[in-house]
Amino acid sequence: MDFSLNEEQKLIQEAARDFAQTELLAEVIERDDAQRFPTEEIKKLGELGFLGMMVDPKYGGSGLDTLSYVIAMEEISKIDASTSVVMSVNNSLVCWGLEKFGSEEQKEKYLTKLSTGEQIGAFCLSEPEAGSDATSQKTTAVDMGDHYIVNGTKNWITNGGTASTYIVIAQTDKDKKHRGINALIIEKGTPGFEIGPKENKLGIRGSDTHSLIFNDVKVPKENRIGEDGFGFKFAMKTLAGGRIGIAAQALGIAAGAYELALKYSKERKAFGTEISNHQAIAFKLADMHTEIQAARLLVYQSALDKDNDRDYDLSGAMAKLYASKVAMETTVEAVQIHGGNGFVKDYHVERLMRDAKITQIYEGTSEIQKIVISRSILK
Ligand code: CAA
Repeated sequence: MDFSLNEEQKLIQEAARDFAQTELLAEVIERDDAQRFPTEEIKKLGELGFLGMMVDPKYGGSGLDTLSYVIAMEEISKIDASTSVVMSVNNSLVCWGLEKFGSEEQKEKYLTKLSTGEQIGAFCLSEPEAGSDATSQKTTAVDMGDHYIVNGTKNWITNGGTASTYIVIAQTDKDKKHRGINALIIEKGTPGFEIGPKENKLGIRGSDTHSLIFNDVKVPKENRIGEDGFGFKFAMKTLAGGRIGIAAQALGIAAGAYELALKYSKERKAFGTEISNHQAIAFKLADMHTEIQAARLLVYQSALDKDNDRDYDLSGAMAKLYASKVAMETTVEAVQIHGGNGFVKDYHVERLMRDAKITQIYEGTSEIQKIVISRSILK
């Protein structure tokens, strides 16, 4: 398989790298400390076409392939994973699902605003008692003829407070189990829809994570995505692509930490020489470099599978499982190479280490990825 980038993809990589350096780096530590959402930065990302990268230009998107998207995700995540998760959720969990499965009216009404960043979207599946076990949805969407009445609570929702458009997964017919689940578009401000408190998190602290509460929320039938009962399949198909985005985020976090560790090791001296001259450090760098490249190949492979209409459930799950492990291990080693400085916020690697952890949890934990992978290879 040829993984070389074409001229357009190289330009996208350069543009994303440039944006991360000039727009994200300066205040990334402060945003993390203050748990401040990157409002202005997200607006600019939207203007540059990074929030609807794979969407058809007729709906305001950039019309690019998944490989371009993961390249951009890697570059943004090297500097600021809080910003890249907003980008990932908007691109793969919201815009992609709407374009692929939404009605023409839904695309006109919602997708055109979401793909340009005029509005931000959120994907609402997890609940207090249904995270990994996604079929056990407690949120209900009772069919009232021309509308649904939604009741329940969603948890850990990325963009929970800042989004305008929410795709909410809810149970309509419990007897039908996962085949009785629907995906509904719910607008912020709909009566009965409340935004719960913001979570105080270990990592990706600049992103905006909330619980959401639905109390007798009336949702018109035309806001259902796909046929009655399609909601669970919609969520699974959407998450399969989302996992490629998070794998790219994990790759970027790992690569960012590695680049910092490499630079530091050539500057910092101990025992009369740069620490990179000590084999203890040089071997760590060798491992990091090798594992990051292996993760990158898996991420690119899953993106190319998606772009070429091949199955990407397996390759996306492998990419996420492996890249998130590499992110965790690489960032821990990057802190170690930095020694005492690694424990201090100014050097960035402690933040990358905290940010890495979530990539093993959201959009399917590592254990869920192993379920997907093992079922695929054993079937
Ligand atoms: N594509 C299409 N359909 C799929 C599918 C896929 N990738 N995976 C499963 N399905 C379908 C199955 O075919 C089945 O349908 P039929 O019976 O009609 O054939 C149905 O879904 C149920 O499948 P399973 O029997 O395999 O369901 P399960 O209960 O064993 O669960 C699971 C499967 C893979 C473990 C799934 O529950 C899962 O992915 N869980 C993790 C959920 C998750 O990722 N949560 C993260 C929340 S989102 C988030 O983090 C967002 C954020 O803000 C960042």
